[in-house]
Amino acid sequence: MSPLLLLVAILLLIIYIYHYAVSRPPNFPPGPVRLPVFGSYLQLLAGNYRYPYKIIDKMTSKYKSKILGFYLGSIPTIVACDFESIKEILVRPEFQGRFDSVVTRTRALGDRLGVFFVDGPYWAEQRRFALRHMRDFGFGRRSETLESQIEIEIRDIIDIMQGSRKDEKVHKNGLTYLPDVFYPGFINSILVVLMGIRFSRDEDEKLRFLGNKTMLFQRSGDTTGGFLTHIPWIRFFAPKLSGHHSNQISSYHLQKFMRELIEEHKTSYSEEYMRDFCDTYIRELKLQQASADITTFSDDQLLLTAIDFFFPAATAISTTLVQAIIYMMHYPEICSNVQKELDTVVGRNKLPSLNDRPSLPYTEATLRESMRRTTLTPISVPHRATEDTYFRGYFVPKNTMMITCLWSMHMDKDFWGDPEVFRPERFLDEKGLLKKKDYTLPFGAGKRLCAGETFARQNLFLFFAAMMQNFNFEMPDGKELPDINHQIPGIIESPYEFWVRAIPRL
Ligand code: HEM
Ligand SMILES: *[C@@H]1O[C@H](CO)[C@@H](O)[C@H](O)[C@H]1NC(C)=O
Repeated sequence: MSPLLLLVAILLLIIYIYHYAVSRPPNFPPGPVRLPVFGSYLQLLAGNYRYPYKIIDKMTSKYKSKILGFYLGSIPTIVACDFESIKEILVRPEFQGRFDSVVTRTRALGDRLGVFFVDGPYWAEQRRFALRHMRDFGFGRRSETLESQIEIEIRDIIDIMQGSRKDEKVHKNGLTYLPDVFYPGFINSILVVLMGIRFSRDEDEKLRFLGNKTMLFQRSGDTTGGFLTHIPWIRFFAPKLSGHHSNQISSYHLQKFMRELIEEHKTSYSEEYMRDFCDTYIRELKLQQASADITTFSDDQLLLTAIDFFFPAATAISTTLVQAIIYMMHYPEICSNVQKELDTVVGRNKLPSLNDRPSLPYTEATLRESMRRTTLTPISVPHRATEDTYFRGYFVPKNTMMITCLWSMHMDKDFWGDPEVFRPERFLDEKGLLKKKDYTLPFGAGKRLCAGETFARQNLFLFFAAMMQNFNFEMPDGKELPDINHQIPGIIESPYEFWVRAIPRL
């Protein structure tokens, strides 16, 4: 080949690569260049492989825009980092799709099932059905029956932490193991709704095992699906590193546990009396199968719906509770303010209840601040644009990934002024009452709003208030406080497990 021809070939290649790198849909938001296969994913990871969303946040300064655009693998992606644009993504109907990926299929019998990762009319019908009927069993509203069940859990856990109920797996030498001590409480709390049962304390070990395995999925990757989304076959070569293995193990244990409960229900099912959500689903299934029409109801869908409500109840609430306790150790003054409020309003003779909740604004504000300062789901769960459309002047092609970077918004200097500071007062007015408008969105908003928000907030409040009422928390001698800026990454971010000294308050 003549040198000239070679030169031309190299030049053409460079031009091609350059074009590819900067190519993007017309009128797309600003953002980093694109590489083959990975898009801009590697740049994010290279910037901060544990917390790539912190690089996204840095890019908002670099590109002077709170809306960014780039490719994740071959998927055009728009990331919104401020309250207004996040809110807009969450409420617009054409942004309520989800992505199909090997990650979501691995946990859903190779199919698209459940509530989290499905979309369209299928999602709408199944989400609506679940929420409507779980309500009958106390989910998502005030229910004295459910609350009294939760209170039993809390009392038992307090007994374990005080040492009056022996359980050496989670309480030894005056130290309590977090979050494991809480798993059985939250698991029973959701099982009452889904399956009409709570396991006895003898089975705590089984529930903690399940909590541990559920957490494995939460830590198996980020919500974009990571490498598995861009190069799905990587799971065969790097099953552990890609998170695929954790996903499989976690799904195996969750499915096995749920299947047994569902089978029991089918055996003992009676049309006369609906014991729980599972029964109402079985009833609907029978009805739909009797009429020959195509239906979205199926055995597999029941299984995945139960799992989709079970796994965040087991992991997200306990993680958030432990996070709040960690903050109370970092800020003893705020902790004692919470305790003073509880002592004044509730006293020590009964556990704090949901009736007390409106009279405990400081406690509520402390929980809100904890969920703001540490965003459980930093990039939430990505949405999918279901048609070509426009967003804040930019063009959005169909199947764009729409990411709401809740972390950026919760840590937005322009909005909060001092986002790094832990200050519950930012949620209170001059009279010490909760401000009407809450500008945090830990649960998202709109049609995809976390389906468990009310349930999560109630459980969180009841457990946190009970912990503050009954204990002071300290690290064991010589152990450092967990670093609030150093979490285990994942779908949700979580602190490392640790032993804590829970000192009964006199
Ligand atoms: C502190 C605890 C929790 C936090 C911070 C949280 C946060 C979130 C977020 C950010 C989303 C995604 C919203 C979006 O797509 O824009 C979500 C979805 C969801 N959450 Fe939660 N969650 C929590 C607890 C729970 C609990 C306890 C349950 C069930 C009992 C639950 C069930 C769900 C379900 C089913 C979805 C999917 C909704 C859908 O796609 O339609 N979550 N959650
Ligand atoms: C689950 O249990 C294993 C074995 O005891 C432990 O190494 C791991 O850290 C636990 N994971 C979680 C999330 O608790």
